[in-house]
Amino acid sequence: MKILLLGSGGREHALAWKIAQSPKVEKLFIAPGNAGTGEVGENVNIKATDFAALGAFALEESIDMIVVGPEDPLVEGIYDHFQSNPCLKNIAIIGPSKEGARLEGSKEFAKEFMHRHHIPTARYQSVTADTLNEGLAFLETLEAPYVLKADGLCAGKGVLILPTLEEAKKELKEMLGGMFGNASATVVIEEFLSGIECSVFVLTDGDHYKVLPVAKDYKRIGEGDKGLNTGGMGSVTPVPFADEVFMEKVRTRIIEPTVNGLKAEGITYKGFIFLGLINVKGEPMVIEYNVRMGDPETESVMLRIQSDLVELLEGVAEGNLDARSLVIDPRTATCVMMVSGGYPEAYQKGYAINGLEAARATDSILFHAGTAMKDGQAVTSGGRVLAICSYGNDKADALAQCYKVADMIDFKDKNYRRDIGFDL
Ligand code: AMP
Ligand code: GLY
Repeated sequence: MKILLLGSGGREHALAWKIAQSPKVEKLFIAPGNAGTGEVGENVNIKATDFAALGAFALEESIDMIVVGPEDPLVEGIYDHFQSNPCLKNIAIIGPSKEGARLEGSKEFAKEFMHRHHIPTARYQSVTADTLNEGLAFLETLEAPYVLKADGLCAGKGVLILPTLEEAKKELKEMLGGMFGNASATVVIEEFLSGIECSVFVLTDGDHYKVLPVAKDYKRIGEGDKGLNTGGMGSVTPVPFADEVFMEKVRTRIIEPTVNGLKAEGITYKGFIFLGLINVKGEPMVIEYNVRMGDPETESVMLRIQSDLVELLEGVAEGNLDARSLVIDPRTATCVMMVSGGYPEAYQKGYAINGLEAARATDSILFHAGTAMKDGQAVTSGGRVLAICSYGNDKADALAQCYKVADMIDFKDKNYRRDIGFDL
Protein backbone atom coordinates (compact mmCIF):
# COMPACT_ATOMS: atom_id res chain seq x y z
CA MET A 1 0.00 0.00 0.00
CA LYS A 2 1.17 3.54 -0.70
CA ILE A 3 0.40 5.98 2.08
CA LEU A 4 0.61 9.76 2.22
CA LEU A 5 0.70 11.25 5.73
CA LEU A 6 -0.05 14.96 6.18
CA GLY A 7 1.60 17.21 8.77
CA SER A 8 5.00 18.17 10.10
CA GLY A 9 5.20 17.85 13.88
CA GLY A 10 6.16 15.35 16.55
CA ARG A 11 2.72 13.75 16.19
CA GLU A 12 3.38 13.09 12.52
CA HIS A 13 6.85 11.65 13.18
CA ALA A 14 5.28 9.26 15.71
CA LEU A 15 2.54 8.27 13.21
CA ALA A 16 5.12 7.86 10.44
CA TRP A 17 7.33 5.72 12.70
CA LYS A 18 4.41 3.42 13.47
CA ILE A 19 3.05 3.29 9.91
CA ALA A 20 6.51 2.53 8.49
CA GLN A 21 6.71 -0.61 10.66
CA SER A 22 3.81 -2.20 8.80
CA PRO A 23 4.67 -4.91 6.26
CA LYS A 24 1.67 -3.67 4.28
CA VAL A 25 3.42 -0.40 3.43
CA GLU A 26 5.17 -0.30 0.12
CA LYS A 27 5.93 3.42 0.30
CA LEU A 28 5.29 6.18 2.85
CA PHE A 29 5.32 9.85 1.90
CA ILE A 30 4.92 12.72 4.36
CA ALA A 31 3.76 16.18 3.27
CA PRO A 32 5.50 18.35 4.25
CA GLY A 33 7.12 16.29 7.05
CA ASN A 34 10.20 17.19 9.09
CA ALA A 35 13.78 15.95 9.56
CA GLY A 36 12.51 12.98 11.59
CA THR A 37 9.80 11.83 9.19
CA GLY A 38 12.43 11.94 6.44
CA GLU A 39 14.21 9.08 8.25
CA VAL A 40 11.23 6.71 8.02
CA GLY A 41 9.65 7.84 4.76
CA GLU A 42 10.02 10.35 1.97
CA ASN A 43 9.14 13.96 2.61
CA VAL A 44 7.25 15.83 -0.11
CA ASN A 45 7.28 19.60 -0.12
CA ILE A 46 3.50 20.20 -0.29
CA LYS A 47 1.45 22.04 2.32
CA ALA A 48 -1.11 19.88 4.13
CA THR A 49 -3.88 22.28 3.03
CA ASP A 50 -2.90 22.52 -0.65
CA PHE A 51 -5.59 20.09 -1.85
CA ALA A 52 -4.93 20.64 -5.56
CA ALA A 53 -1.23 19.81 -5.23
CA LEU A 54 -1.97 16.87 -2.90
CA GLY A 55 -4.50 15.48 -5.38
CA ALA A 56 -2.05 15.75 -8.29
CA PHE A 57 0.69 14.10 -6.23
CA ALA A 58 -1.62 11.31 -5.05
CA LEU A 59 -2.56 10.48 -8.67
CA GLU A 60 1.02 10.62 -9.89
CA GLU A 61 2.22 8.27 -7.13
CA SER A 62 -0.89 6.03 -7.05
CA ILE A 63 -1.48 6.75 -3.37
CA ASP A 64 -3.97 4.36 -1.72
CA MET A 65 -4.50 6.13 1.58
CA ILE A 66 -4.07 9.61 3.06
CA VAL A 67 -3.67 9.87 6.84
CA VAL A 68 -4.37 13.40 8.06
CA GLY A 69 -2.31 14.51 11.08
CA PRO A 70 -3.47 18.09 11.85
CA GLU A 71 -6.98 19.56 11.97
CA ASP A 72 -6.71 22.30 9.35
CA PRO A 73 -7.01 20.10 6.23
CA LEU A 74 -9.98 18.32 7.82
CA VAL A 75 -11.79 21.49 8.83
CA GLU A 76 -11.11 22.91 5.35
CA GLY A 77 -12.71 19.80 3.81
CA ILE A 78 -10.00 17.54 2.39
CA TYR A 79 -12.34 14.55 2.55
CA ASP A 80 -15.06 16.31 0.53
CA HIS A 81 -12.50 17.66 -1.94
CA PHE A 82 -11.28 14.15 -2.74
CA GLN A 83 -14.81 12.69 -2.79
CA SER A 84 -16.00 15.28 -5.30
CA ASN A 85 -13.33 14.35 -7.86
CA PRO A 86 -13.97 11.05 -9.71
CA CYS A 87 -10.21 10.48 -10.12
CA LEU A 88 -9.54 10.93 -6.40
CA LYS A 89 -12.61 9.46 -4.72
CA ASN A 90 -11.16 5.97 -4.37
CA ILE A 91 -8.25 7.20 -2.27
CA ALA A 92 -9.05 6.42 1.36
CA ILE A 93 -8.90 9.45 3.64
CA ILE A 94 -8.34 8.76 7.33
CA GLY A 95 -10.22 11.69 8.79
CA PRO A 96 -13.81 12.95 8.88
CA SER A 97 -15.81 14.80 6.26
CA LYS A 98 -15.98 18.59 6.51
CA GLU A 99 -19.27 18.30 8.40
CA GLY A 100 -17.73 15.84 10.88
CA ALA A 101 -14.69 18.07 11.35
CA ARG A 102 -17.02 20.76 12.72
CA LEU A 103 -16.81 18.86 16.01
CA GLU A 104 -13.44 20.59 16.32
CA GLY A 105 -13.91 23.49 13.91
CA SER A 106 -16.93 24.94 15.72
CA LYS A 107 -17.33 24.86 19.50
CA GLU A 108 -21.00 25.78 19.06
CA PHE A 109 -21.58 22.86 16.70
CA ALA A 110 -19.84 20.50 19.15
CA LYS A 111 -21.95 21.72 22.09
CA GLU A 112 -25.18 21.42 20.09
CA PHE A 113 -24.19 17.92 18.98
CA MET A 114 -23.54 16.87 22.57
CA HIS A 115 -26.81 18.40 23.65
CA ARG A 116 -28.75 16.49 20.95
CA HIS A 117 -27.15 13.19 21.98
CA HIS A 118 -27.24 13.70 25.76
CA ILE A 119 -23.46 13.55 26.07
CA PRO A 120 -22.25 14.91 29.43
CA THR A 121 -20.59 18.32 29.09
CA ALA A 122 -20.54 21.71 30.81
CA ARG A 123 -23.69 23.87 30.74
CA TYR A 124 -23.31 26.56 28.05
CA GLN A 125 -24.76 29.39 26.07
CA SER A 126 -23.69 30.43 22.61
CA VAL A 127 -23.74 34.17 21.83
CA THR A 128 -23.06 36.63 19.01
CA ALA A 129 -22.90 40.45 19.02
CA ASP A 130 -26.69 40.46 18.49
CA THR A 131 -27.34 38.37 21.60
CA LEU A 132 -24.69 39.96 23.84
CA ASN A 133 -27.24 40.85 26.52
CA GLU A 134 -28.33 37.22 26.83
CA GLY A 135 -24.69 36.26 27.18
CA LEU A 136 -24.12 38.80 29.93
CA ALA A 137 -27.24 37.53 31.71
CA PHE A 138 -26.02 33.91 31.39
CA LEU A 139 -22.66 34.88 32.91
CA GLU A 140 -24.57 36.21 35.94
CA THR A 141 -26.04 32.75 36.53
CA LEU A 142 -22.57 31.11 36.69
CA GLU A 143 -19.98 30.98 39.42
CA ALA A 144 -16.33 32.01 39.04
CA PRO A 145 -14.14 31.24 37.20
CA TYR A 146 -15.77 31.92 33.82
CA VAL A 147 -14.97 30.06 30.59
CA LEU A 148 -15.23 31.83 27.22
CA LYS A 149 -14.49 29.97 24.00
CA ALA A 150 -14.14 31.39 20.51
CA ASP A 151 -16.33 29.27 18.25
CA GLY A 152 -13.73 28.77 15.50
CA LEU A 153 -10.16 27.46 15.28
CA CYS A 154 -7.60 29.71 17.01
CA ALA A 155 -4.51 27.47 17.10
CA GLY A 156 -5.30 26.51 20.70
CA LYS A 157 -5.54 30.11 21.93
CA GLY A 158 -9.28 30.67 21.75
CA VAL A 159 -10.23 29.69 25.31
CA LEU A 160 -10.16 32.28 28.11
CA ILE A 161 -10.68 31.43 31.77
CA LEU A 162 -11.48 34.54 33.77
CA PRO A 163 -11.42 34.84 37.56
CA THR A 164 -14.09 37.56 37.95
CA LEU A 165 -17.49 38.36 36.48
CA GLU A 166 -16.27 41.84 35.54
CA GLU A 167 -13.36 40.49 33.50
CA ALA A 168 -15.58 37.86 31.90
CA LYS A 169 -18.05 40.53 30.74
CA LYS A 170 -15.25 42.73 29.40
CA GLU A 171 -13.52 39.87 27.55
CA LEU A 172 -16.82 38.60 26.13
CA LYS A 173 -17.38 42.02 24.53
CA GLU A 174 -13.82 42.04 23.18
CA MET A 175 -14.08 38.55 21.76
CA LEU A 176 -17.33 39.39 19.99
CA GLY A 177 -15.70 42.61 18.81
CA GLY A 178 -13.09 40.63 16.88
CA MET A 179 -10.34 39.63 19.35
CA PHE A 180 -9.84 36.42 17.34
CA GLY A 181 -11.19 37.80 14.08
CA ASN A 182 -14.07 35.87 12.60
CA ALA A 183 -13.33 32.86 14.87
CA SER A 184 -14.81 34.75 17.83
CA ALA A 185 -17.85 36.22 16.05
CA THR A 186 -19.65 33.51 18.02
CA VAL A 187 -18.56 32.77 21.59
CA VAL A 188 -19.51 29.79 23.72
CA ILE A 189 -19.82 30.65 27.42
CA GLU A 190 -19.41 27.61 29.65
CA GLU A 191 -19.79 26.61 33.22
CA PHE A 192 -16.35 25.87 34.73
CA LEU A 193 -15.75 22.21 35.53
CA SER A 194 -13.28 21.22 38.15
CA GLY A 195 -11.34 17.96 37.93
CA ILE A 196 -8.41 16.26 36.24
CA GLU A 197 -8.25 15.96 32.46
CA CYS A 198 -7.31 13.11 30.15
CA SER A 199 -7.29 12.45 26.42
CA VAL A 200 -9.22 9.50 25.03
CA PHE A 201 -8.53 8.51 21.42
CA VAL A 202 -11.07 6.58 19.40
CA LEU A 203 -10.61 5.17 15.93
CA THR A 204 -13.86 4.70 14.03
CA ASP A 205 -14.99 3.49 10.61
CA GLY A 206 -18.37 5.15 11.15
CA ASP A 207 -20.01 2.00 12.50
CA HIS A 208 -17.47 0.34 14.77
CA TYR A 209 -14.80 1.77 17.02
CA LYS A 210 -11.64 0.91 18.92
CA VAL A 211 -10.38 2.78 21.96
CA LEU A 212 -6.65 3.53 21.81
CA PRO A 213 -4.52 3.97 24.95
CA VAL A 214 -5.67 6.84 27.20
CA ALA A 215 -3.09 9.56 27.82
CA LYS A 216 -2.62 12.78 29.76
CA ASP A 217 -0.78 15.76 28.32
CA TYR A 218 0.95 18.68 30.04
CA LYS A 219 0.27 21.97 28.28
CA ARG A 220 1.83 24.64 30.48
CA ILE A 221 5.45 25.67 30.09
CA GLY A 222 6.19 25.67 33.82
CA GLU A 223 6.46 22.93 36.40
CA GLY A 224 3.37 22.41 38.52
CA ASP A 225 1.28 23.40 35.46
CA LYS A 226 2.21 27.07 35.81
CA GLY A 227 2.82 29.68 33.14
CA LEU A 228 1.83 30.03 29.53
CA ASN A 229 0.15 27.41 27.39
CA THR A 230 2.33 25.58 24.89
CA GLY A 231 1.71 23.04 22.16
CA GLY A 232 2.41 20.41 24.84
CA MET A 233 5.40 19.65 27.08
CA GLY A 234 4.94 15.93 27.62
CA SER A 235 2.53 13.06 28.02
CA VAL A 236 1.93 9.87 29.97
CA THR A 237 -0.05 6.74 29.12
CA PRO A 238 -1.87 4.93 30.71
CA VAL A 239 -3.76 7.24 33.06
CA PRO A 240 -4.42 5.48 36.38
CA PHE A 241 -7.80 7.14 37.08
CA ALA A 242 -9.09 6.05 33.66
CA ASP A 243 -9.74 2.58 35.05
CA GLU A 244 -12.30 -0.02 33.90
CA VAL A 245 -15.19 1.64 35.77
CA PHE A 246 -14.39 5.11 34.40
CA MET A 247 -13.83 3.82 30.86
CA GLU A 248 -17.11 1.92 30.88
CA LYS A 249 -18.84 5.25 31.57
CA VAL A 250 -16.80 6.85 28.79
CA ARG A 251 -17.84 4.12 26.36
CA THR A 252 -21.54 4.10 27.14
CA ARG A 253 -22.12 7.80 27.85
CA ILE A 254 -19.69 9.42 25.42
CA ILE A 255 -18.09 7.21 22.75
CA GLU A 256 -21.16 5.25 21.67
CA PRO A 257 -23.51 8.26 21.60
CA THR A 258 -20.86 10.12 19.58
CA VAL A 259 -20.27 7.41 16.97
CA ASN A 260 -23.97 6.53 16.76
CA GLY A 261 -24.97 10.20 16.74
CA LEU A 262 -22.70 10.96 13.78
CA LYS A 263 -24.14 8.00 11.93
CA ALA A 264 -27.74 8.91 12.74
CA GLU A 265 -27.15 12.45 11.47
CA GLY A 266 -25.67 11.11 8.24
CA ILE A 267 -22.25 12.62 8.96
CA THR A 268 -19.40 10.64 7.34
CA TYR A 269 -16.68 10.04 9.89
CA LYS A 270 -13.86 7.58 9.30
CA GLY A 271 -10.90 8.57 11.39
CA PHE A 272 -9.68 9.51 14.83
CA ILE A 273 -11.89 11.14 17.45
CA PHE A 274 -10.01 12.84 20.30
CA LEU A 275 -12.15 13.28 23.40
CA GLY A 276 -10.76 15.88 25.77
CA LEU A 277 -12.36 14.68 29.00
CA ILE A 278 -12.46 15.89 32.55
CA ASN A 279 -13.04 13.60 35.49
CA VAL A 280 -15.52 15.35 37.75
CA LYS A 281 -15.66 13.23 40.91
CA GLY A 282 -15.53 9.98 38.90
CA GLU A 283 -17.92 11.18 36.18
CA PRO A 284 -16.43 11.79 32.71
CA MET A 285 -17.52 15.02 30.99
CA VAL A 286 -16.47 16.28 27.56
CA ILE A 287 -14.38 19.47 27.53
CA GLU A 288 -13.78 19.35 23.79
CA TYR A 289 -13.73 17.19 20.69
CA ASN A 290 -10.80 17.16 18.31
CA VAL A 291 -10.98 15.34 15.00
CA ARG A 292 -7.37 14.13 14.95
CA MET A 293 -4.82 12.64 17.29
CA GLY A 294 -3.31 14.79 20.05
CA ASP A 295 0.18 16.19 20.22
CA PRO A 296 2.19 15.24 22.33
CA GLU A 297 -0.11 12.34 23.31
CA THR A 298 0.43 10.51 20.00
CA GLU A 299 4.14 10.30 20.74
CA SER A 300 3.51 8.12 23.80
CA VAL A 301 0.30 6.44 22.59
CA MET A 302 1.98 5.02 19.44
CA LEU A 303 4.54 3.26 21.64
CA ARG A 304 1.76 1.26 23.26
CA ILE A 305 0.00 0.07 20.10
CA GLN A 306 1.41 -3.37 19.42
CA SER A 307 -0.87 -4.16 16.49
CA ASP A 308 -0.17 -3.07 12.96
CA LEU A 309 -1.64 0.45 12.75
CA VAL A 310 -2.04 0.19 8.97
CA GLU A 311 -4.14 -2.95 9.40
CA LEU A 312 -6.43 -0.90 11.67
CA LEU A 313 -6.52 2.06 9.26
CA GLU A 314 -7.41 -0.33 6.46
CA GLY A 315 -10.32 -1.49 8.63
CA VAL A 316 -11.41 2.15 8.95
CA ALA A 317 -11.32 2.62 5.17
CA GLU A 318 -13.12 -0.64 4.43
CA GLY A 319 -15.70 -0.33 7.20
CA ASN A 320 -14.65 -3.56 8.92
CA LEU A 321 -12.73 -2.22 11.89
CA ASP A 322 -14.58 -4.74 14.07
CA ALA A 323 -12.70 -7.55 12.34
CA ARG A 324 -9.29 -6.03 13.16
CA SER A 325 -7.39 -6.58 16.35
CA LEU A 326 -5.97 -3.91 18.62
CA VAL A 327 -3.38 -5.20 21.08
CA ILE A 328 -2.11 -2.69 23.62
CA ASP A 329 1.28 -2.91 25.33
CA PRO A 330 0.72 -3.11 29.11
CA ARG A 331 3.81 -1.04 29.84
CA THR A 332 3.78 2.68 30.61
CA ALA A 333 5.03 5.08 27.95
CA THR A 334 6.03 8.68 28.58
CA CYS A 335 7.05 11.61 26.45
CA VAL A 336 9.17 14.57 27.52
CA MET A 337 9.34 17.46 25.07
CA MET A 338 12.61 19.35 24.72
CA VAL A 339 11.91 22.96 23.78
CA SER A 340 13.84 26.07 22.79
CA GLY A 341 14.65 28.53 25.59
CA GLY A 342 12.06 31.34 25.60
CA TYR A 343 9.29 29.21 24.06
CA PRO A 344 6.28 29.71 23.95
CA GLU A 345 7.32 33.36 23.66
CA ALA A 346 10.16 34.56 21.41
CA TYR A 347 13.02 32.10 20.91
CA GLN A 348 16.05 31.61 18.66
CA LYS A 349 16.31 28.94 15.98
CA GLY A 350 19.28 27.32 14.26
CA TYR A 351 21.22 26.05 17.29
CA ALA A 352 23.20 22.83 16.73
CA ILE A 353 21.69 19.76 18.43
CA ASN A 354 24.37 17.45 19.85
CA GLY A 355 24.17 14.04 21.47
CA LEU A 356 21.58 12.59 19.09
CA GLU A 357 23.74 9.57 18.24
CA ALA A 358 24.25 8.65 21.89
CA ALA A 359 20.52 9.19 22.57
CA ARG A 360 19.60 6.90 19.70
CA ALA A 361 21.74 4.13 21.17
CA THR A 362 19.47 4.05 24.27
CA ASP A 363 16.06 2.34 24.54
CA SER A 364 14.28 5.69 24.12
CA ILE A 365 12.64 6.72 20.89
CA LEU A 366 13.15 10.25 19.61
CA PHE A 367 10.53 12.03 17.57
CA HIS A 368 11.40 15.29 15.86
CA ALA A 369 9.05 18.24 16.27
CA GLY A 370 11.10 21.29 15.30
CA THR A 371 14.44 20.28 13.84
CA ALA A 372 16.12 20.86 10.49
CA MET A 373 19.30 19.66 8.84
CA LYS A 374 21.89 22.32 8.01
CA ASP A 375 25.09 21.21 6.29
CA GLY A 376 24.66 17.72 7.69
CA GLN A 377 24.11 18.96 11.25
CA ALA A 378 20.74 18.75 13.08
CA VAL A 379 19.67 22.20 14.28
CA THR A 380 16.69 23.58 16.17
CA SER A 381 13.96 25.00 13.94
CA GLY A 382 10.95 25.38 16.20
CA GLY A 383 9.75 26.01 19.74
CA ARG A 384 9.16 22.36 20.42
CA VAL A 385 12.28 20.58 19.22
CA LEU A 386 12.36 16.89 20.16
CA ALA A 387 10.01 14.46 21.89
CA ILE A 388 11.87 11.90 23.98
CA CYS A 389 9.71 8.83 24.48
CA SER A 390 10.37 5.82 26.70
CA TYR A 391 8.79 2.66 27.99
CA GLY A 392 8.86 1.66 31.64
CA ASN A 393 7.26 -0.72 34.07
CA ASP A 394 5.66 2.32 35.63
CA LYS A 395 5.59 6.09 35.20
CA ALA A 396 8.68 6.73 37.33
CA ASP A 397 10.68 4.15 35.43
CA ALA A 398 9.72 5.49 31.99
CA LEU A 399 10.29 9.11 33.00
CA ALA A 400 13.70 8.35 34.53
CA GLN A 401 14.70 6.96 31.14
CA CYS A 402 13.37 10.07 29.33
CA TYR A 403 15.28 12.40 31.65
CA LYS A 404 18.49 10.40 31.25
CA VAL A 405 18.23 10.98 27.49
CA ALA A 406 17.23 14.64 27.95
CA ASP A 407 20.58 15.12 29.73
CA MET A 408 22.46 13.53 26.84
CA ILE A 409 20.98 15.87 24.24
CA ASP A 410 22.37 19.32 24.11
CA PHE A 411 21.45 22.54 22.37
CA LYS A 412 21.81 26.14 23.49
CA ASP A 413 19.11 27.23 25.98
CA LYS A 414 17.38 23.82 25.95
CA ASN A 415 14.43 23.53 28.29
CA TYR A 416 12.06 20.79 29.41
CA ARG A 417 9.71 20.08 32.29
CA ARG A 418 11.08 17.79 34.97
CA ASP A 419 7.69 17.03 36.51
CA ILE A 420 5.72 15.32 33.73
CA GLY A 421 3.08 13.06 35.30
CA PHE A 422 3.33 14.82 38.67
CA ASP A 423 -0.45 14.84 39.24
CA LEU A 424 -1.19 11.21 38.36
P1 AMP B 1 -10.40 23.59 24.87
O1 AMP B 1 -9.68 24.30 23.75
O2 AMP B 1 -11.87 23.56 24.75
O3 AMP B 1 -9.77 22.25 25.14
O4 AMP B 1 -10.02 24.39 26.19
C1 AMP B 1 -8.67 24.58 26.57
C2 AMP B 1 -8.49 24.23 28.02
O5 AMP B 1 -9.31 25.05 28.83
C3 AMP B 1 -8.91 22.80 28.36
O6 AMP B 1 -7.90 21.86 28.13
C4 AMP B 1 -9.24 22.94 29.83
O7 AMP B 1 -8.08 22.85 30.62
C5 AMP B 1 -9.81 24.33 29.93
N1 AMP B 1 -11.27 24.28 29.87
C6 AMP B 1 -12.04 24.37 28.77
N2 AMP B 1 -13.34 24.28 29.07
C7 AMP B 1 -13.42 24.18 30.41
C8 AMP B 1 -14.49 24.08 31.34
N3 AMP B 1 -15.78 24.11 30.95
N4 AMP B 1 -14.20 23.96 32.65
C9 AMP B 1 -12.91 23.95 33.04
N5 AMP B 1 -11.85 24.06 32.23
C10 AMP B 1 -12.09 24.17 30.93
N1 GLY C 1 -2.57 17.78 23.26
C1 GLY C 1 -3.70 18.52 22.92
C2 GLY C 1 -3.96 18.68 21.49
O1 GLY C 1 -3.34 18.04 20.66
O2 GLY C 1 -4.83 19.46 21.14
